[in-house]
Amino acid sequence: MLLLNPGPVTLSERVRRSLLQPDLCHRESEFFALQDEIRERLLAAYDLDPQVWTAVLMTGSGTAAGESMIAAMVPANGRLLNLEKGVYGDRIAQMCAQYGIAHERVIGSWMEPVDLSAVSGDFTHVAVVHHETTTGRLNDLRPVMKLCRERGWGLLVDGVSSFGAEAIDFNDESVHAVAATANKCLHGVPGASFVIARRTALAKAASRTYYLDLGRLARMQDQRNTPFTPAVHAYYALVEALREFEEQGGRVARYRQYSALAEQVRAGLAAIGIEGVLSPAQSSVVLRSYRLPPGLSYARLHDELKAGGFVIYAGQGSLSQTLFRISTMGNLTRTDIDRLLTCFAKLR
Ligand SMILES: Cc1ncc(COP(=O)(O)O)c(C=O)c1O
Repeated sequence: MLLLNPGPVTLSERVRRSLLQPDLCHRESEFFALQDEIRERLLAAYDLDPQVWTAVLMTGSGTAAGESMIAAMVPANGRLLNLEKGVYGDRIAQMCAQYGIAHERVIGSWMEPVDLSAVSGDFTHVAVVHHETTTGRLNDLRPVMKLCRERGWGLLVDGVSSFGAEAIDFNDESVHAVAATANKCLHGVPGASFVIARRTALAKAASRTYYLDLGRLARMQDQRNTPFTPAVHAYYALVEALREFEEQGGRVARYRQYSALAEQVRAGLAAIGIEGVLSPAQSSVVLRSYRLPPGLSYARLHDELKAGGFVIYAGQGSLSQTLFRISTMGNLTRTDIDRLLTCFAKLR
């Protein structure tokens, strides 16, 4: 079965086998070597200077990393501007409500790009989901960075479904942190996630959560330590996935691979009359959403493709009636996509 949902992804055999390594106590030096290597490799994925940036690992899914970032990086007297374009932007607003973080939401239509002309008021931070997996929209970070630079606001990015494939300009001084996960563009397994934080911004952070306290996690990991029991096997898989990532050419190679597969899917579906919801220019290379053809329910589409060996993904909420999503993350080839398109052709 091949997974075309946005994570967990189809693993390479090498990463799958890495789960079968020896049992490992997280208080032994072998574990800290593993933790150090993951943290170094995460920074290397975007060529980041360890003096300026730190990769803070945690056990939990992408939401854990996002929550850890939001709960720590906005100070008690801070105010967050949340630029929302889907379910994951909405989730950040829910986190703010839960922690009593002062915030304002800019929502607008999920089908339209972020409209910064609607921004008014003063803030300390801005949050944005880089790739809004709800629709496949890749939010353009450049105008957001420019706004943040001009106003002196810190930018907090949910890069859960973009880190490892899409470009992120970490050189921009506005970027304070990016939250992401092991089991999407990096091709690891669920259970490990992380925040790439600017050290100067992190030094001022104070977390509102106990378990996901970003500052404590960073301090202890810098001392080759860990506060709790991490998902050791997820770390085994992540380090192997990161080694493979580097050997395959790193972020740029992964971008090209996804881009080619996403275009193959787009062109193949267009040829049978299935259109993308957003233009390729507005979409990520990671996942695209497509309109359900008239008379074809998502349930039937899902079940027939599953019988052919592919798991696709429904639209979220009310979008489940109108669209479906296909991700090209994971260990996939052009031949796999050819087979997928053959399954689609048989439907009609
Ligand atoms: C952009 C984005 N943010 C956050 C999440 C939440 O990640 P998780 O389901 O791993 O908690 C997802 C999951 O797909 C996502 O795509």
